[in-house]
Amino acid sequence: MKVFVLSEHGLGTAYELLSGLIVPRPIALVSTQDADGRTNLAPFSYFMIGGINPPSVAFCPVRGREGDKKETLRNIETTRQYVINLVTPDMVEGMNVTGGDYPGDADKWAMSGFSPVPSLQVAPARVAQSPVQLECELMAVVPHGDGPGSADYVIGEVKVAHVREDLVNENGTFGPVDLLSRLGQRDYLAMGSGTFAMARPDISQFLSRDAD
Ligand SMILES: Cc1cc2nc3c(=O)[nH]c(=O)nc-3n(C[C@H](O)[C@H](O)[C@H](O)COP(=O)(O)O)c2cc1C
Repeated sequence: MKVFVLSEHGLGTAYELLSGLIVPRPIALVSTQDADGRTNLAPFSYFMIGGINPPSVAFCPVRGREGDKKETLRNIETTRQYVINLVTPDMVEGMNVTGGDYPGDADKWAMSGFSPVPSLQVAPARVAQSPVQLECELMAVVPHGDGPGSADYVIGEVKVAHVREDLVNENGTFGPVDLLSRLGQRDYLAMGSGTFAMARPDISQFLSRDAD
């Protein structure tokens, strides 16, 4: 094995190593508003499910070169509300447009071609083209580090989920959904039908031994 003690390397190595090897990452297309109702949309692949009681998800806007916060984070800290829209392969171009760090007040909704639909419990709109839209309320922002490359873990409670009908199964399960995922560098993965099922390990023999 090659060993990387990350404190002995630059930020570039940490970025390439973590984002190139922790893959694939589904993309959270996050819809927010500022205090005056100005809308914003941006993708984040540092994104995961947390718990289910309450149902929570986390994503990470990373700070810029000057340690500056992205608009998505500033909006969420102000309004505490957002929508996470999951992204399918057919949404790739619109999603990518919203990932540009444009100067000033770019209308990323208009540029993306995505259509806004009103949410039920939060002010930011949902993306109509997304098959899974999660209305979230901020639980905590956990800052980690400071300066360039430091992160804020945004943890939110999922209040309302809008799920396309074909993804809702009769037995109470959901999916599978063909999500677009981020790999390292400029690479993406479209999940397609490349899935397989596997049961969890059988622990019954250990349980009966305990009972002896
Ligand atoms: C597929 C994809 C995934 C991204 N994931 C992240 C991420 O996890 N964290 C992050 O800080 N930026 C990420 N970005 C970059 C942000 O989307 C980009 O900085 C965006 O302009 C932020 O917008 P905002 O300033 O309006 O919030 C990603 C971009 C793309 C295209």
